[in-house]
Amino acid sequence: TVIYIPRDSAALAVGAEEVANAFHTQLSKRNLEAHIIRNGSRGMHWLEPLIEIETDQGRIAYGPVQASDVSALLDGGFLEGADHPLCHGLVEEMPFLKRQTRLTFLRCGVADPLSIAHYKMHRGFLGLERALQMTPAEIIQEVTDSGLRGRGGAGFPTGIKWNTARNAKGDQKYIVCNADEGDSGTFSDRMIMEGDPFVLIEGMTIAGIATGATKGFIYTRSEYPHSVAALRSAVKLAEEAGILGPSVLGSSHAFDMEVRVGAGSYVCGEETSLLNSIEGKRGVVRTKPPFPAIEGLFGCPTVVNNVISLASIPIILDRGAKHYFHYGVGNSHGTIPIQLAGNIRHSGLFETAFGLTLNELVFEIGGGTLSGRPVKAAMVGGPLGAYFPPSMFDTVFDYESFTQRNGIVGHAGIVVFDDTVDMLKQARFAMEFCAIESCGKCTPCRIGSVRGVEVIDKIARGERPEEHFELLADLCNTMDKGSLCALGGFTSYPVMSSLTYFPQDFEVHERKSQ
Ligand code: NAI
Ligand code: SF4
Repeated sequence: TVIYIPRDSAALAVGAEEVANAFHTQLSKRNLEAHIIRNGSRGMHWLEPLIEIETDQGRIAYGPVQASDVSALLDGGFLEGADHPLCHGLVEEMPFLKRQTRLTFLRCGVADPLSIAHYKMHRGFLGLERALQMTPAEIIQEVTDSGLRGRGGAGFPTGIKWNTARNAKGDQKYIVCNADEGDSGTFSDRMIMEGDPFVLIEGMTIAGIATGATKGFIYTRSEYPHSVAALRSAVKLAEEAGILGPSVLGSSHAFDMEVRVGAGSYVCGEETSLLNSIEGKRGVVRTKPPFPAIEGLFGCPTVVNNVISLASIPIILDRGAKHYFHYGVGNSHGTIPIQLAGNIRHSGLFETAFGLTLNELVFEIGGGTLSGRPVKAAMVGGPLGAYFPPSMFDTVFDYESFTQRNGIVGHAGIVVFDDTVDMLKQARFAMEFCAIESCGKCTPCRIGSVRGVEVIDKIARGERPEEHFELLADLCNTMDKGSLCALGGFTSYPVMSSLTYFPQDFEVHERKSQ
């Protein structure tokens, strides 16, 4: 008998460790034999800790389970998959999971994240094995043909970036995985690192073979201690198994990697300040061009890709470019792990082909607000993304549709707010966030964000609102056009969308203070 209890941070935060301990105690007390596997999360966060029992019919899910439920569960025939108020039936049949297309998250929550045998049982390393039979140019062609675009947020075609690095001159090249996931309401990188770290290792190794890079760095954050631990263990296991090292799976390709941990800076997620941080320098943004693909880490050609971009590579090489390409709409191909967060009933990770509307995501899949109050806004794309009112929820989830409406898909996080949110405060928060996190290199961001907070405070106090609205719009425009990187450049999205779509919140403050 196998019991699955997640070791993902989201499950641990709500008592998964205590549940595992309770199972160990109760099973030995009752002289029952069962093997406990600590898996990743299935991504249904409102049901965590979601535990599963393997039966002849398949895996049956129970959740949210607390340590105090364990005894009664075992009394009630849990080991046979018996019915119970916490039982959800076959996990694969649960509507939230069944509606998904899991390509990148194929194994997340299914297998033991730190077992190479489990990884192989679920199509692990098939992509790498195929890549080893191909020339670097063929691998890059396959990635280009898949239509994969950078999942960190900017959506730059991955194949083109790899090709640039491959053609760049340099004795040493690097693959850097940007795992400094900093957007509000996002956790897909973390879930992969904790729930399926080998897929990231496999994706980075393929990137190394394709571009001629022999060394990889995963740059993640100190706020993710469980990811750091899982990655370090997985890298060690991969080295021991001959997957990483001087001869990748017995081939003539060498590839090894290291995990580096940042120290709580949002702007270190910007690729060039991330490179400075790995080099041991202060996390200040570099001017582009030169792009890192030509002159990156220690001045060498470097591919910087997000976790999800790299974790999508193995399935593309395994199933072929066409299989991946046919999912999606317009120029957004493949699947995207959308993260539903904030005031939402069904919070969690939903991997799907591009093309659902915000309406479907927030109401049908997310189930509306957790508070039961009307939805007022959804922020898409993190603290640099726009706030959309429900009247704009017909927006289709793809890169171009969001750009057309002055928004961004970003790292695909959706944060939902009910009608108690004050959008003036949200706009102020965006400016304040920019002021706190600014690296200080350019004036529009460093000074503009501080002035932005002051102007919003004046609007809140009702001081000459017309004049200050104009000033705020002007400031946002200057930050947008004049900033060196996305932090200063995109802060106008949350601010201007708040002002444009929720003008009533700015007027209320004006009246209140009169
Ligand atoms: P960018 O548009 O400057 O570049 C995107 C990528 O393409 C970079 O890796 C860049 O080096 C590469 N690139 C662009 N032109 C190239 C060329 N001609 N040849 C080779 N490579 C080229 O965008 P940036 O500043 O890297 O990212 C901004 C995005 O980051 C935003 O859209 C935002 O959504 C996202 N973001 C994500 C966060 C997260 O937690 N994942 C946090 C904050 C922002
Ligand atoms: Fe630094 Fe802000 Fe300029 Fe980016 S926009 S380079 S974070 S000062």
